[in-house]
Amino acid sequence: MKILIIGARGQLGSDCCNILSADNQTLGCDIPQIDIGDPASVDRYIDDTRPEVIINCAAYTAVDTCETEVELAWKVNAEGPKNLAIAARRTDSRLIHISTDYVFDGTKPAPQAYSEDDPTNPLSQYGRSKLAGEEYIAALGGNAIILRTAWLYSAYGKNFLKTMLRLALADSKRPLKVVDDQYGSLTWSYTLALQIRKLLHSDMTGIIHATSDGHSTWYGAARYFLEAMQVPHNLAPCATAEYPTAAHRPANSILANTRLDKAGISTFGSWQRDVDTFVSQFRENLIEEAKAALRQG
Ligand SMILES: NC(=O)c1ccc[n+]([C@@H]2O[C@H](COP(=O)([O-])OP(=O)(O)OC[C@H]3O[C@@H](n4cnc5c(N)ncnc54)[C@H](OP(=O)(O)O)[C@@H]3O)[C@@H](O)[C@H]2O)c1
Repeated sequence: MKILIIGARGQLGSDCCNILSADNQTLGCDIPQIDIGDPASVDRYIDDTRPEVIINCAAYTAVDTCETEVELAWKVNAEGPKNLAIAARRTDSRLIHISTDYVFDGTKPAPQAYSEDDPTNPLSQYGRSKLAGEEYIAALGGNAIILRTAWLYSAYGKNFLKTMLRLALADSKRPLKVVDDQYGSLTWSYTLALQIRKLLHSDMTGIIHATSDGHSTWYGAARYFLEAMQVPHNLAPCATAEYPTAAHRPANSILANTRLDKAGISTFGSWQRDVDTFVSQFRENLIEEAKAALRQG
């Protein structure tokens, strides 16, 4: 299959390039080669490459900054998917677009999980712009998947677990407050890329939830990770109110992979299993990277 992976330098894009290149003809691209917010750039790139499948991992993912960089967030997260959906329809390509658990408002009591047909009601510019992107794709129809995932981490790029590691290595005695009243589905982008590979051989379309099994809070995830890493820490659970951020986040955004499970094609296991594997594969690199970042200040 000829597959174009957009956002190839990011967490998920990097894992998709690594995994899908084994048995497909893959082409990875990122800004500035392509700017998904610019229809002319999208059309030019798609016409030049003529992929059978377009996987869009590109997004404006800095959730808090989206509150101030509103125009750019909407250009990338809402107009971007629209431009890609139009180009995909025109060239008869399949579109796999990645979306987010932050389309939900979190009022469902945890640990109840959100299914694909639960009503959306995003709390932030990030969530609203990503939902608008979903809606553009859905309105255009065609051979498209909207894959909602959550709380991604990866060996590549920046993420919450890497931040926790850096802070713990900086000072293992210093109390580190981490939010313990937001629930979600921590997901390794590598396992999501494996699920995408499986979806390439299915004819599913529409909204699909795709996260690791189980749930945790940010505090629970950080603690499990640092203990698996055998890094001393002084994590302390705190409430959202004690850690104010520019963007409001849902108190519960646990996703149920209802459609994948029903179709019998979910490749996910527990989030703890994935963290264990991630640590066993990348422990040394992660520590080296965190120490280098600390040296740089
Ligand atoms: N990270 C999470 O926790 C999380 C949770 C739920 C859903 N998701 C969704 O999952 C997908 C992948 O997330 P990720 O964490 O892998 O993202 P990421 O690491 O932030 O990577 C996104 C990539 O897109 C690029 N990009 C930004 N604007 C672009 C544009 N206009 N045109 C082309 N490329 C552009 C970025 O480049 P620059 O770095 O140069 O900006 C970056 O390389 C996204 O759709 C995200 O919304 C993520």
